[in-house]
Amino acid sequence: MVKKIKACVFISGSGSNLKSIIKNSREYNFPIKIELIISSNINAQGAKIAKKYSIPYKFYSPANKSKFERNCLCEIKRRKIKFICLAGFMKVLSPHFINSFHYKIINIHPSLLPKYKGLNTHKRVLKNGEKYSGCTVHFVTSKLDSGKTILQKKIIIDKKETENSLKTKILKQEHNIYSKSIISIFR
Ligand code: GRF
Repeated sequence: MVKKIKACVFISGSGSNLKSIIKNSREYNFPIKIELIISSNINAQGAKIAKKYSIPYKFYSPANKSKFERNCLCEIKRRKIKFICLAGFMKVLSPHFINSFHYKIINIHPSLLPKYKGLNTHKRVLKNGEKYSGCTVHFVTSKLDSGKTILQKKIIIDKKETENSLKTKILKQEHNIYSKSIISIFR
């Protein structure tokens, strides 16, 4: 059996990237094993996914950021987690958290970084009449959406594209490149 690195996924919403990572991580050769899911949203779908796959799940309120991060770090250390994937996680981690975790943290962002950092990406992309958009998996640093790119996928924006159709189109690519990025890091 390949010795897999213990990993944690942080989520805030529908958890579709989480689901896709979990499925891929069950492959024999996949480099990581998801041993913890942390949610910043009490209504996130992650609880159901965690139950389905029997993965420990924690919700911590993000109302008090330092308490949230303390709780996360404590659980992560306790479980000897060595890798963090942010997947649809809508909170910004503090430099203190990023520096306290001595291993790698990666994130997925629904744009062709360095363009369109931050929130409401699809809306801004369409408003600016862009011909292309996409998604990027990158290392997390204390500067928002600015760490080194691991993988990026470009898609063409159709004439009749809406925010929703663009989101769906990009999300499909996110599921593909997130796992590929994890594999490429540990290759
Ligand atoms: C994704 O587009 C992700 O990149 C963004 O939030 C969306 C939802 O992702 N940050 P998920 O379904 O919760 O994985």
